[in-house]
Amino acid sequence: MVTYRSTMVERIDLPSRETRERRLEEAGYNVFNLPAEDVFIDLLTDSGTGTMSTDQWAALIRGDESYAGSRSFDRLESAVEDVMGFPHIVPAHQGRGAENVLYGTLLAEGDVVLNNTHFDTTRAHIANQGADPVDCPVDAAFDLEAGETDAREFAGNFSLERARAVVDDAGADAVPVVIQTITNNSAAGQPVSVENTRRVREFADEIDATFVLDACRFAENAAFVREREAEFSDASIDEIAREQLGYADALVMSGKKDGLANIGGFVATTDVDLFERCKQRAILYEGFPTYGGMAGRDMDAMAVGLREAVEDAYATDRIEQVRTFGRLLEDAGVPIYTPVGGHAVYVDAGTALSHLPPEEFPGQALVCELYREGGVRGVELGSFAFPNTDRPELVRLALPRRTYHREHLEHVAETATAVLEKREAVSGLELASEPPIPELRHFTAELRPVSR
Ligand code: F0G
Repeated sequence: MVTYRSTMVERIDLPSRETRERRLEEAGYNVFNLPAEDVFIDLLTDSGTGTMSTDQWAALIRGDESYAGSRSFDRLESAVEDVMGFPHIVPAHQGRGAENVLYGTLLAEGDVVLNNTHFDTTRAHIANQGADPVDCPVDAAFDLEAGETDAREFAGNFSLERARAVVDDAGADAVPVVIQTITNNSAAGQPVSVENTRRVREFADEIDATFVLDACRFAENAAFVREREAEFSDASIDEIAREQLGYADALVMSGKKDGLANIGGFVATTDVDLFERCKQRAILYEGFPTYGGMAGRDMDAMAVGLREAVEDAYATDRIEQVRTFGRLLEDAGVPIYTPVGGHAVYVDAGTALSHLPPEEFPGQALVCELYREGGVRGVELGSFAFPNTDRPELVRLALPRRTYHREHLEHVAETATAVLEKREAVSGLELASEPPIPELRHFTAELRPVSR
């Protein structure tokens, strides 16, 4: 059941079809290049795009902008300790800033890092230290044919089998860090069970590695755990969150997700020595350790947001809204990844536009058609975003938190239906210009329709 009402509104407009066509062409068929004012329903990301509560707006006013010893820092520190159980934090400007602080502290050239699936900024920061990020997803993660089987209940899990094979090969000494990302954004936002987190903790102990949780969507993950893991069916979201996070040595957090804030992040740890080392790197790259890249007011907004994120009603409503969105799309005949994850619905573009080969970027073609047809912006996470991998052709439609209502979601489903009705007429795309780093090409590359 919905747990909020809107007390502030922002006007949105659906530009004319002619304008949408023109904008798409001007953007080089890359929706990252669209002006936001010409986007009607923006599902590009759930990161920093949500709606803050009245309590968060009130907290902003209390922001203490002192360079050192800010009261806003104290309030964020208390919130992280109460909600997540970690006593030491180093604030950062956002999640990737926290990744730079932590992985720059923990890693050296030639190291191997294991993760259920690395998010792209995580992968890039690890590679930037000269280390090798290796994904260990379970088989169910990318098996789109599998449907809703038991193995799919926690398709975000970390595969210990794969991890052990890497350790057998590289040697335990080569693996100083093991990461678990909850929920698993790069595997369709699928949840991770607490049982799996316990096993990864044991594995990290076996190989004497630091165990890091990427906790961006920890509250959404806890809501799934309560639904699907019998041991926790009577637990509250905040109890589950503390239990799961408590197995880690350190957290990297983007407050733009389950911090319910527009900006910010942090590293948190129980290890005093690691805390001291992270602070030194934070001073270099982020800021003094009691603000580290965030304004005092933003630390206050996140402190309140973290407490709201683990309210049972909020977390349950959040994953329920994403599931409802999935159902609307399924009812409209759109092939989607099921079960639906925590922050987004992932459309199977390879099936939706099966007449287009991967070289013609079916996912990106679908993203462009959703904009052309209904002013909807999603993001391609297939062969355009991940060159040289054999990932399925997915399009992510991410829901900002507490922002859109059922009518908005119905508009997206109607738009998708209209696109699928004329799917044969949708043409493929080819690259027109490409930036130097292939892994980051989907942010800025330009494309054009394939001419036949
Ligand atoms: N880790 C995960 C799992 C993420 O999903 C993100 C961001 C980050 C780290 C980095 O955090 O953006 O605050 O620097 N994901 C966003 C997305 C950008 O759209 O999925 P950040």
